Amino acid sequence: MRVFLETYGCQMNFADSEVVASILQTAGHSVVTEIGDADVVLINTCAIRDNAEQRIRHRVRELRAMQARNPRLRIGILGCMAERLQSQLMAEEDNVSLVVGPDAYRRLPELLERGAHAAVELSTTETYADIEPVRLASNGISAYISIMRGCQNYCAYCVVPYTRGRERSRDPETILREARTLYSQGYKEVTLLGQNVNSYRHADVGFPQLMEAVAGIAPDLRVRFATSHPKDLSDDLLRVMAAHPNICRCIHLPVQSGSDRILKLMNRHYDSAWYLGRIDAIRRYLPDCSITTDVIVGFCSETEEEFQATLDLFRRVRYDYAYMFKYSLRPDTYAARHLADDIPDAVKGRRLEELIALQGQIALENNRLEVGRDYEVLVEGESHRSKERLFGRNSQNKVIVFDRRDARPGEYRRVRVTDCTAATLLGDLIP
Ligand code: 5AD
Ligand code: SF4
Repeated sequence: MRVFLETYGCQMNFADSEVVASILQTAGHSVVTEIGDADVVLINTCAIRDNAEQRIRHRVRELRAMQARNPRLRIGILGCMAERLQSQLMAEEDNVSLVVGPDAYRRLPELLERGAHAAVELSTTETYADIEPVRLASNGISAYISIMRGCQNYCAYCVVPYTRGRERSRDPETILREARTLYSQGYKEVTLLGQNVNSYRHADVGFPQLMEAVAGIAPDLRVRFATSHPKDLSDDLLRVMAAHPNICRCIHLPVQSGSDRILKLMNRHYDSAWYLGRIDAIRRYLPDCSITTDVIVGFCSETEEEFQATLDLFRRVRYDYAYMFKYSLRPDTYAARHLADDIPDAVKGRRLEELIALQGQIALENNRLEVGRDYEVLVEGESHRSKERLFGRNSQNKVIVFDRRDARPGEYRRVRVTDCTAATLLGDLIP
């Protein structure tokens, strides 16, 4: 069968789609790049917020028109929405005939042979360790490596422990093999992925040791990782990072709130003082590290003062980038069962706008400090605006756009920053 894969959501989902492609190809199916050529459309979905689900529902309904033209066209739902809604999804969207959760992808070939079916059993061991992903979205320069799956932190707002199951870590040998293969194929950057990479543990190998081993593959292979829970960000990891210049100077450390009462309600296992202590540790070990975050405004019972505490924390930390969200109730989570979603949407919206405005200003001020500095940039491709310009990233994960001259994608080049916006640095190649 010819299968078209469409992916929504986080980096983990994009990595999973590459595993799915591999499973399908190994079973003799082909993955097509034009939806019009497909016998089956598989949508890998996200359930983290209601608007993510609504967007996918809209897409599923849009595909009815294609099915009207091609009555044999099947639609399957993979990923977190499949796991959350299970066969209910087929009842509600009657053009969907396949529902497959994140731990059941090995069954896809068998399920494609059958009629309507849901496979949503979660596993405590599945890591897809032996499957070599098909690099679907790759530019040949940078690739994802999934190192652990699942989450059992049970943050009160979060659906992930229910859609992705228990934490489990992949055998380090298979991770190293995958990274070495990528390097030998010319890749220059790998991003180690997990819902909480700092909890990685396989026998006596923890995350710092794993990072050390991957960083040791080659000095010109950049290593990144995402995402970290503040409670587990260890000094050991920071020491390993400091000792390996090819581990990128960028840490994503979701804070979620600046208020201690809200952090407790969210079941985050740290308070703002402890979080700021981790930020100080990062700055001590890695003075040039960029720091990014996730944050939620309007969580259950959040007062105006508590929201102000989040603004204050943003002023203290001065993040380089932040993913900012309005709280969205997820059925079956602790918050949905025990707390009231009592902040009016208009108030959530106003708080979000205020935070976005503050963060935009901070990001711009941070970027202005970069003007005049030189960075090693891994060139990734043409700038979206002009073929005459290329873009790449520095170790801090900041995008830098510069005149093409003789530079080529995949090269490391030194670039001097000459100007900036809140989102992008502009620079000149240093000959
Ligand atoms: N509502 C809003 N944002 C959420 N996130 C997770 N669950 C919710 C929710 N119910 C955010 C968190 C998390 C990021 C991936 O998504 O900030 O870090
Ligand atoms: Fe969700 Fe919390 Fe796990 Fe992150 S750490 S995936 S926010 S439960």
